Amino acid sequence: MRIFVAGATGAIGRPLLTQLLAQGHDVIALTRSLDKAGILAEQGVEAAIADVFDADAVKAAVIHAQPEVVIEQLTAYPKTYTRESMGAAAALNTRIRLEGGANVLTAAQAAGVRRYLKQSIAFWGVPGNGLADEETPLSLDASPAVAADARIVTELERRLLEAPNLEGIVLRYGFFYGPGTWFASDGDVAQQVRQQQFPIVGNGEGVWSWIHIEDAAIATVAAAERGNPGIYLITDDQPLTVSEWLSAYAQWLNAPPPPQISVEEALRIGGADAVYYGTQMRGAWNAKAKCELNFQPRPLEWMVNSAVAHAS
Ligand SMILES: NC(=O)c1ccc[n+]([C@@H]2O[C@H](COP(=O)([O-])OP(=O)(O)OC[C@H]3O[C@@H](n4cnc5c(N)ncnc54)[C@H](OP(=O)(O)O)[C@@H]3O)[C@@H](O)[C@H]2O)c1
Repeated sequence: MRIFVAGATGAIGRPLLTQLLAQGHDVIALTRSLDKAGILAEQGVEAAIADVFDADAVKAAVIHAQPEVVIEQLTAYPKTYTRESMGAAAALNTRIRLEGGANVLTAAQAAGVRRYLKQSIAFWGVPGNGLADEETPLSLDASPAVAADARIVTELERRLLEAPNLEGIVLRYGFFYGPGTWFASDGDVAQQVRQQQFPIVGNGEGVWSWIHIEDAAIATVAAAERGNPGIYLITDDQPLTVSEWLSAYAQWLNAPPPPQISVEEALRIGGADAVYYGTQMRGAWNAKAKCELNFQPRPLEWMVNSAVAHAS
């Protein structure tokens, strides 16, 4: 198929291009950068140079590319994962998803694209018993930043799933780990854990769902090829509490054990969102992707051979 990718040069975009090419697809990638266009060309990817906020340029690029499928992976997250950097990036991240995403979706509709896949988030399912599935609404009453994002993401998902004449597929990814992510051994969270700056909050019972960035790419290609319109949770098989994954992650990094702080202290240092992530987050259930996409995610890198894993 001819597949147009927006966000093609980011953490998920890079392995996604590799997987799309490996499956024999023709790939056209949106980028703002002439340098990145050159690198894409060397890979065998056609570059479409445009800023996603330039609606006319995006429309012209998609119409020119004539793709059958569009995959939108646009984000503007920072390279560091701290309260300050995430707060500073929030306005642009919101704009790129709302306005940038709208421009790509409008362009796809104008070009008569058959199928449109979009990045979403697996770990904001409303807190409750057990794991969240595709029917679970996002947590609109969560802590302030999570609630604000959950509202935006809910609206973006609705916008795509209700778009006429288009097969819309929402991919709710778990926490990305692997090369180029915050959780890579050279990533920002690894650095924070080595410096004991990434604590377990309270009882550490928030449940996180993970996905290796290459598995996320493989699942995305499968969804582009044979997914059904609707939502898929793209997460691995083993959601873990913060106390489980963070202790094992520190061991894997040969870092000191993570410090533990009270909810009150976390509220003071990191705010209500830090408490939500540490104590209330809900894991996600990947059965639909496994069944419909033959999805076979690998086990979380730092839980393999982990003594923490055997204890849990
Ligand atoms: N589920 C998750 O856990 C999750 C999800 C997303 C991101 N993250 C994390 O966030 C961090 C950064 O993510 P990332 O690497 O994807 O971000 P990034 O490196 O900033 O990539 C963002 C992508 O969006 C494109 N883009 C941004 N603004 C654009 C614009 N105005 N016009 C056109 N394209 C634009 C960029 O294209 P050009 O620069 O080529 O123009 C790039 O392809 C990583 O650590 C990642 O793991 C985590």
